[in-house]
Amino acid sequence: MQALYKGFIGFALILLLMGLFFGVIAAIAFFKPDYFLHMMPFQQLRPFHVSAVLFWIISGAAGSILVFKKNVFHGLPQKNIFGIAFIVLWVVSILLIFLSYCFEQFGGREYWEFPPVLNVIILLAWICLMISFFGTVLKAAKDQPVYVWMWSTGILFFFFTFTEQNLWHIPWFRNSFLKEMTIQWKSNGSMVGAWNQMIYGTAVYLMVKISGDETIAKNKKAYFFYFLGLTNLIFNWGHHIYNVPAAAWIRDVSYLISMTEWLIVISIIQGFKNKLEESRKFTYLLTYKFLLASEFWVFMNLLLALFMSVPAINRYTHGTHITVAHAMGTTIGINTMILLGSIAYILKMDAGGSKKLRMDVKAGYWLSQISLLVFWLALIIAGIIKGYQMQVLHVTVFSKVMAPVLEVLKIFLYSGITLAIGIAVIAVCMLRFVSASLLNASDEL
Ligand code: HEM
Repeated sequence: MQALYKGFIGFALILLLMGLFFGVIAAIAFFKPDYFLHMMPFQQLRPFHVSAVLFWIISGAAGSILVFKKNVFHGLPQKNIFGIAFIVLWVVSILLIFLSYCFEQFGGREYWEFPPVLNVIILLAWICLMISFFGTVLKAAKDQPVYVWMWSTGILFFFFTFTEQNLWHIPWFRNSFLKEMTIQWKSNGSMVGAWNQMIYGTAVYLMVKISGDETIAKNKKAYFFYFLGLTNLIFNWGHHIYNVPAAAWIRDVSYLISMTEWLIVISIIQGFKNKLEESRKFTYLLTYKFLLASEFWVFMNLLLALFMSVPAINRYTHGTHITVAHAMGTTIGINTMILLGSIAYILKMDAGGSKKLRMDVKAGYWLSQISLLVFWLALIIAGIIKGYQMQVLHVTVFSKVMAPVLEVLKIFLYSGITLAIGIAVIAVCMLRFVSASLLNASDEL
């Protein structure tokens, strides 16, 4: 069974590589639309990129939880058949999604731009995951560490938000543009909260394993953090709908709430770092480094989010590259870093492999961190220039607005290429570990 789960982790890493490839191609197509017009224009490459990276994140999170569930609840029935059914249906649906993109069959809604009938397979897959997960967890003792609560909440809320995201199939929702838009933005915002619970739960689990200190996941602060995360999941979507006419108190409440969660994440990671013995840090150095990177990116994105969530500023930033910086800063800096740390732990990369392989991962790590900083700053500066031109200088000719923005976006493209190379080096090294452990040939690495 662990071999199947490792294979699934390999599948998630391939999605990550695809996401990187299509991200770079989409960015080049943005600058050279004439070259790509007849092959595949930017608006078609974007769904390739966004679907690949979103499915990387959700698959990486679900794969990690399936592996860790076995470790945490090893004496209990595992409902393996539903774990297998989840993997088969999930992989099939993703393959069909990319096949439809290849045949230019688009549809659905933003971020889920494939023929909507495929949502049925995704939903069935998720129901199998829920049966596999809760079938075990509900048989366990009540007093569970906080990461089990976070995984449970993330898995359950993904189901709710995914269903909500599909309400547009019902005419009552679809017939009003405003109603549909509000629900789309709301459900997409909450869905991020759902996979964050799955991924932050994984981060807490890794901190427990690295430090050997189970109290990290059982103290009052951890449970307080869980309830705060839950409150965020339920209410912070308000900051995704600032631009639709809604009651002012909704904005105020969601603004206050959305600022709290990340502060606590930083405080938990720092508590873990302060208590960690030096020797244990070196035993799990790779995972530790990825967790440190995520802490840095939580901090940077918190600063950006504080700025963006002020309703008066959000009016100017919404729809500019600052929103893209926020989306990529968090999905790469926080989610991807924690997932890479989790995969390094699952594959026991610190204990195995040659020195050369570990050096490659280290080089990929530093290249990706430095590139991500330049990439992220370039998007923010491009967003500020665009917002300033449109909202303050009231420039209405789009080509005039974009002329200075395009100069900054060139930096985004170049750093995007080095970022992609850095993460790809890490992903390829991890894939080598996956294939070696499937073939039981770790000595060859
Ligand atoms: C793990 C790596 C990556 C992740 C998780 C990621 C994630 C995302 C997400 C979530 C979006 C949608 C943003 C939104 O709608 O606001 C996006 C858009 C985009 N990404 Fe990435 N990305 C990654 C790497 C890259 C790389 C290396 C490039 C290369 C330059 C790139 C280029 C783009 C472009 C051009 C867009 C479209 C922006 C737009 O529509 O204005 N991405 N990415």
